[in-house]
Amino acid sequence: MSVVLVTGGSGFIGSHTCLILLENGFDVIVLDSFLNSSPRSIDRVKALIGNSDINKRLTIIEGDIRDYNLIDKVFENREQIGNSIDAVIHFAGVKAISESINNPLKYWDINVNGTCTLLSAMNKHNCKTIVFSSSATVYGSPQTLPISESEKVNPENPYGHSKAAIEQMLSDLYQTSCSDWKIAILRYFNPIGSHASGLLGEHPIGKPANLFPLISQVAAGRLKSLKVFGADWDSPDGTAIRDYIHVMDLADGHIAALNYLLTHEFSYLKLNLGTGKGYSVLEVISEFEKISGKRVPFEVVSKRKGDVAISVADSSLAKSKLNWCPTRSLTDCCVDGWKWQLLNPIGYS
Ligand SMILES: NC(=O)c1ccc[n+]([C@@H]2O[C@H](COP(=O)([O-])OP(=O)(O)OC[C@H]3O[C@@H](n4cnc5c(N)ncnc54)[C@H](O)[C@@H]3O)[C@@H](O)[C@H]2O)c1
Repeated sequence: MSVVLVTGGSGFIGSHTCLILLENGFDVIVLDSFLNSSPRSIDRVKALIGNSDINKRLTIIEGDIRDYNLIDKVFENREQIGNSIDAVIHFAGVKAISESINNPLKYWDINVNGTCTLLSAMNKHNCKTIVFSSSATVYGSPQTLPISESEKVNPENPYGHSKAAIEQMLSDLYQTSCSDWKIAILRYFNPIGSHASGLLGEHPIGKPANLFPLISQVAAGRLKSLKVFGADWDSPDGTAIRDYIHVMDLADGHIAALNYLLTHEFSYLKLNLGTGKGYSVLEVISEFEKISGKRVPFEVVSKRKGDVAISVADSSLAKSKLNWCPTRSLTDCCVDGWKWQLLNPIGYS
């Protein structure tokens, strides 16, 4: 039975991934500071698994990835009971582009310092298998669409710079370690939706920064209207185009990447995870209105600094390497996301 440390495991993507890890027989330790999540997400994961031994298989630790002594102890405690950590899936971090522009040091500290601290503890304990949450933001404004992994890394905001710096850190580690590290860098496009039960979903603390939870909260009447940032982008309806991937497909991608690392030697993967299909902001609003039967009023405001017009993935490499393929549509994302919103009007609170 493999044991996986999941940093940020109580967050949006982390909680869905923990569920699938447990369903696939992994034991899970979540390390999360709850900066942007609620521990209740993990209670929901437990409820969905439902077995009586779940408390033995899923442990939750409140703590910060910048706390070396804490992470050191987490590894040590497991070694002492003969149940060492085999791999880490590293979600913990901050992710709002606009906040990163206003407060870049927070992004360098949590994302970059935090990852460096985590890797140091992993190194000490000889746990050298890691799946890392990177982002399509590292590409900035791409030269070619759809975006493949050979596209230049050229981030346009501090959040993207922090992700690119971590990618470089992982690459350096791999190059200089006689390749005893196994590393999967997963560049997500735009994760949305929620678990089909409506029990797990996105629960940002404070006002959401991402489009989908904003649409959902406007449809539910929690927010008055939506701001659409720019209607003069170079796209058919003038609004920005993104590649929206269902969070459960993304979670499946993590299990596929982890299984790849655990069964191959000398692995260094850098993979896009997206669907290859782009939707404009107006198309997402329209689909959400159709599914929810609610109006989503919006106003067009000026473009945000650091945004790009179109971001759509070429995920063929992930498909061939991992035998992974997203199966859920934008409609599925809206159906599941709306169910989550209806069942949890104020998230996990
Ligand atoms: N959601 C997206 O659109 C998206 C897209 C691309 C990449 N990513 C990356 O995926 C990862 C997960 O994103 P998410 O959408 O689940 O975000 P999230 O905010 O829901 O989850 C991140 C988790 O990390 C925790 N955390 C933050 N700082 C921490 C710290 N110092 N120590 C311990 N825990 C800490 C938060 O409390 C939260 O539970 C992030 O690294 C993010 O940058 C997200």
